[in-house]
Amino acid sequence: MKVACLPGDGVGPEVMREAERVLDALGIDHDSHPFGGTAILAGGDPLPPDTLAACRDADAVLLGAVGLPELEGRAVRPEQGLLGLRRELGVFSNLRPAKGDGVDLLIVRELTGGLYYGERGTRADGTVFDTCEYHPDEVERIARQAFALARTRGSRLTSVDKVNVLETSRLWRRVVEEVAADFPDVQLDHALVDSAAMQLVMDPGRFDTIVTENTFGDILSDVAAGVTGGLGLAASASLGEGRPGIFEPVHGSAPDIAGQGIANPAAMLRSLALALAHGLDRAGAAADLDEAVETALRTTPTRDLGGTATTSEFGDAVLRTLELDDA
Ligand code: NAD
Ligand code: IPM
Ligand code: MN
Repeated sequence: MKVACLPGDGVGPEVMREAERVLDALGIDHDSHPFGGTAILAGGDPLPPDTLAACRDADAVLLGAVGLPELEGRAVRPEQGLLGLRRELGVFSNLRPAKGDGVDLLIVRELTGGLYYGERGTRADGTVFDTCEYHPDEVERIARQAFALARTRGSRLTSVDKVNVLETSRLWRRVVEEVAADFPDVQLDHALVDSAAMQLVMDPGRFDTIVTENTFGDILSDVAAGVTGGLGLAASASLGEGRPGIFEPVHGSAPDIAGQGIANPAAMLRSLALALAHGLDRAGAAADLDEAVETALRTTPTRDLGGTATTSEFGDAVLRTLELDDA
């Protein structure tokens, strides 16, 4: 098994270091590749061809975060590397779990279509446009995945759209209804995205599994993170038809705290646990790592959770528990 690590920018390399220590402890082969803003500054390309080739060869891709304030609004941006990598690896399904007090939900975010990947440009009169586009097959495959995942959880699926305004949402709802016929054991409901956002804040415990468009899922997953302890905790897995998947925190490069060694590596380590379960055939190690992170959150919290631990002290605590497990 081989893992391609893309530390990226800001706190990305800081939290990735802790994931690499765990990979070493588990005896899993890994190497590191330039990506994002760091790669732009080094060679002008956020997704260098060698990095992409290494990702294709790997069993899983671990990603820190991308984004550098000094590159914001430039023609070549770190985020283009991330969107390009998702498209190249065909990871259409982005799983974003959120757990907290009375909350245990899973957002299934469509990741390679919708507003992020539709036609865009500038018209002669200066109007700039982005378009939301979906082919029925793209909706069907993410819907099937979400129903199948809901079945492994509470068997309740909420499809989130904006059917009262958008053509793509009317397609979305129709296809989701069609797929529902194959999953009679899963209870389906629909919610409009504005009211879904409100319900996530007011009554997040009402949700089990949510499936939604790319942009809606981006926004709602930060909301879900916010109501379950913050971005320092929220992990994600981006999966396609085969390997490799991409495993990354929901958070970004956090320029406001980068370089201080205080970022919470829990989201990164939980993303590694998802990689162990979904890409590396190490379900047992995944469960051990999740438990070790739980323990460290209780004993050694970082500043975002009201504690004082540094990034590496949190990693130390996780490794101690894992090594005790081994003994
Ligand atoms: P952000 O997620 O980087 O940070 C939002 C807030 O959460 C900040 O206050 C930050 O300090 C805090 N935070 C984030 N991760 C944390 C952690 N591990 N521990 C403790 N606190 C943490 O969002 P932003 O500031 O809006 O964006 C910064 C940059 O990151 C932008 O360039 C954006 O494009 C990029 N971004 C990248 C990804 C990604 O690579 N997947 C995701 C989101 C944003
Ligand atoms: C995320 C991020 C990315 C997204 C950005 C950095 C392109 O916000 O993974 O949630 O919007 O998908
Ligand atoms: Mn986001």
